[in-house]
Amino acid sequence: MDKVIIQNLGKVFAGSTTAAALQGVNLSIADNEFVTLVGASGCGKSTLLRILAGLETHTSGNVLCDGKPVAGPGAERAMVFQHYSLYPWLTVIENIKFSRKLRANRGNLMSSDVEAASGRADALLNLIGLNKVAHAYPNQLSGGMQQRVAIARALMGRPQVLLMDEPFGALDAQTREVMHDLILHIHRVEKTTIVFVTHDVEEAIYLGQRVVLLQPRPGRIHSIYPVPLPPQREQDMKHTAPFRALRAEILARIRESAGVSTDLDMLGQLNATEV
Ligand SMILES: Nc1ncnc2c1ncn2[C@@H]1O[C@H](COP(=O)(O)OP(=O)(O)O)[C@@H](O)[C@H]1O
Ligand SMILES: [Mg+2]
Repeated sequence: MDKVIIQNLGKVFAGSTTAAALQGVNLSIADNEFVTLVGASGCGKSTLLRILAGLETHTSGNVLCDGKPVAGPGAERAMVFQHYSLYPWLTVIENIKFSRKLRANRGNLMSSDVEAASGRADALLNLIGLNKVAHAYPNQLSGGMQQRVAIARALMGRPQVLLMDEPFGALDAQTREVMHDLILHIHRVEKTTIVFVTHDVEEAIYLGQRVVLLQPRPGRIHSIYPVPLPPQREQDMKHTAPFRALRAEILARIRESAGVSTDLDMLGQLNATEV
């Protein structure tokens, strides 16, 4: 069954004189699927994700979640950004519980709900492997640990769809690998549908069941690639022929469609394929 349906989606920013940020985007995402979106800078990845989150309006087409039009943020859709948006004055466990707390402050929360929330927060702390630092403050944690907390907080309300915009973009390569395996584990355990934006083609292939390649000016879907790897990913798969072939294919398409890219990270990946 489709969890998210995007039909002929378009977005023109008010006052914009350049090409549409998104035009004619069609994509259906199955329940519990892990989809990654890649493409050069400015191809509309963040705009598409923000529209799915209900943080941005679209100017044409339809976006449905569980068959219902997305008309704003909702508890069934949670977002994780590149820059950890943790509250510095709250501890790890308080940050994870924070969204629940907001609701509690609005009243009518039973003590059984509070207990359930505590149980959920503890389970998430376990899931992200940070039990030992439950009472630490964000500035005492590494970037990778902070991002784990941001993920746990997003999961607190049991969202059905997790929207991630370059969540590991600010982390070093080694930490990123650890985070990749963590998010795959979370996807299996929590059974969420994940839409993950990145400009790192290798990351997109390693995580995704399908990789959606976007192209800019106007922002639109270039191709959709099913990833020819077993569901249970392992780091070694990055060195296999199917992985390398898909990586080369996607990078070649990006090179064609983007022309001269000004995105330095993207250029780095393109150059890496030439050696
Ligand atoms: N708030 C905004 N106002 C006007 N134009 C915007 C805004 N946000 C993004 N854009 C434009 O929309 C296009 C897509 O941007 P974005 O979704 O951020 O791309 P990506 O995340 O793929 O780099 C770009 O041309 C960008 O300049
Ligand atoms: Mg972006």
